[in-house]
Amino acid sequence: MCGVIGYVGRGASPAFFLNALRRLEYRGYDSAGIAMLTADGVVIQRAEGKLSQLERKLDNLPATAKVGIGHTRWATHGKPTENNAHPHRSGPIVLLHNGIIENYRQLKEMLVAKGYEFLSETDTEVAAHLLHDEYKNQTQGNPEERMRLALREVVKQLKGAFAFGILCLDTPEVLYAAKLGSPLVVGQAEGESFLASGITALVEHTRQFLVVEDHELVVLKSTGIEIEHFNGYAVSRPFSKVEWSVAMMEKGGYRHFMLKEIHEHPQAIAQTLNGRIQRDSGTINIADLGVEKLPLKSLSRLQIVACGTSFYAASLSKYFIESVTHLPVEVDLASEYRYRTSTVNAQTLVVAVSQSGETADTLQAIKSARAAGAQTLAIVNVPGSTIAHACHAESLTKAGPEIGVASTKAFAAQLTDLYLLGLALAQERQALSASELRGYVDELVKIPSLVERALGLSESIEKLANRYHQLSSLLFIGRGPQWPVALEGSLKLKELSYIHAEAYAAGELKHGPIALIDENMSVVCLAPRDAYYEKTLSNIEEIKARGGRILAIGQENDAQLAALADDYIGIPECSETILPFMTTVPLHLFAYWIAVRKGTDVDQPRNLAKSVTVE
Ligand code: G6P
Repeated sequence: MCGVIGYVGRGASPAFFLNALRRLEYRGYDSAGIAMLTADGVVIQRAEGKLSQLERKLDNLPATAKVGIGHTRWATHGKPTENNAHPHRSGPIVLLHNGIIENYRQLKEMLVAKGYEFLSETDTEVAAHLLHDEYKNQTQGNPEERMRLALREVVKQLKGAFAFGILCLDTPEVLYAAKLGSPLVVGQAEGESFLASGITALVEHTRQFLVVEDHELVVLKSTGIEIEHFNGYAVSRPFSKVEWSVAMMEKGGYRHFMLKEIHEHPQAIAQTLNGRIQRDSGTINIADLGVEKLPLKSLSRLQIVACGTSFYAASLSKYFIESVTHLPVEVDLASEYRYRTSTVNAQTLVVAVSQSGETADTLQAIKSARAAGAQTLAIVNVPGSTIAHACHAESLTKAGPEIGVASTKAFAAQLTDLYLLGLALAQERQALSASELRGYVDELVKIPSLVERALGLSESIEKLANRYHQLSSLLFIGRGPQWPVALEGSLKLKELSYIHAEAYAAGELKHGPIALIDENMSVVCLAPRDAYYEKTLSNIEEIKARGGRILAIGQENDAQLAALADDYIGIPECSETILPFMTTVPLHLFAYWIAVRKGTDVDQPRNLAKSVTVE
């Protein structure tokens, strides 16, 4: 869950490394470091805390270097201190790492016995010393050849996951990398080569990328990039071009990435729909959706696996997909799915939903489903990501880069993609009539503009936040598809504002959580006019009768709901199909404005990371 960056070329400044790390800071932000290699040797600067701490030390680095590496850390082994920050050095080797070395204890004992002195508590330092040791053992060839041989020996001995960026003082114009389990991309421009944990770090410098696969070593020079398998044979793959732009990764005048990204819900939905629906014929373009190669007609069920916000988007889509396909849809937390007895077969479509396309639990879940014989589909936002590679088919959500650690616009894009998947299945299996399908297509087209109108609620929600930010606990309730919306709202609130929040299916309230209700408890009640409206109103009455405070989210001009509630947010009128897209907007805004009012770090909440590549 750390971010790594590497450069080799005409020359890069400390600011280059810092900026690239800034674009990866979403991956971890508890400490950071940069190493730059010049003719005078290597200079390493590291700092505890966010990149702003490292920025203060940039003057200690050389003005420019032909080779360098940088790291932003999310601690797994050892506290986030300067000593534990990467890179780590052993003799001529300077190394940084994203991943976990599971057998580091045994290796450490062996290395200590050989006389290596450990300066940190990290698993990574083991890799630095081990590489140094293996490098010393190599007697054949020039330093670069010896490094390649030594790296092959090292990767054989490591258990766990890694993406390494490595410098060697004996090869001052070469950068090395190795990958197993942790993400790594390489990029190339005129006279420059780069490596990074994600393309966001490099889009400013190149659009030509290649995703490094597991079991691959990379040797980067200003003149080009060579890839070889851990077994030593050369690998050749074409580079691909990404369309993301630098502007997409800037705040664009917003105070936080999160606010910008909430305001990009309509765009994320529109781009995800674009090309996938044919308005004239009222049909779904399954080729553009990326599901053409899947045996859609012969499936007997769907199994969706995901984590965090992606899990809630998946949970929400279950209601829609089942209603249009009549296929059973199960949704599992990826971290739990792996431990269940697998019942999938060739007629099961297992769908991994992931913004980053890297989440370790989701990756392992989809790999085990594929190994058990299921058809697999990745719904991911990052092109070429690891989860996409692991699946039979890939459907890209088009939310654009999401920088805020708490996921917002990606949720809207995932939901859109999952709705399209439901309609594609219904179309291919003729579960809907042509006119029913056209009806849904016409509905989907309306979503971006309706969501745009819902964003107009931002100002009134900001005012509302002043009345809620001091609470220590909140409940959220919803029925039917509004239950996963409630879960998403409570997750957003707790991760951003550190306020304890729980979400319940409204019908479950009476089975326990109602005991929590008194005059000190506030409940966010999702009660749009859907099929469950009357029942949810009864639940709201029950809360009111016990003195609970009610913040109701319903549709505009709902006098009955407004009268019951202490506070009321009215979203624009829309059909039941569209409702979940709409009710999510005030909840994202509510969490955002409360966090701003509390003064927490909105874009980088404590203890979190945007892509979680540990299990
Ligand atoms: C982390 C992030 C969440 C995200 C979850 C799943 O916990 O902080 O915002 O929803 O991972 O990530 P994914 O990239 O798989 O959607």
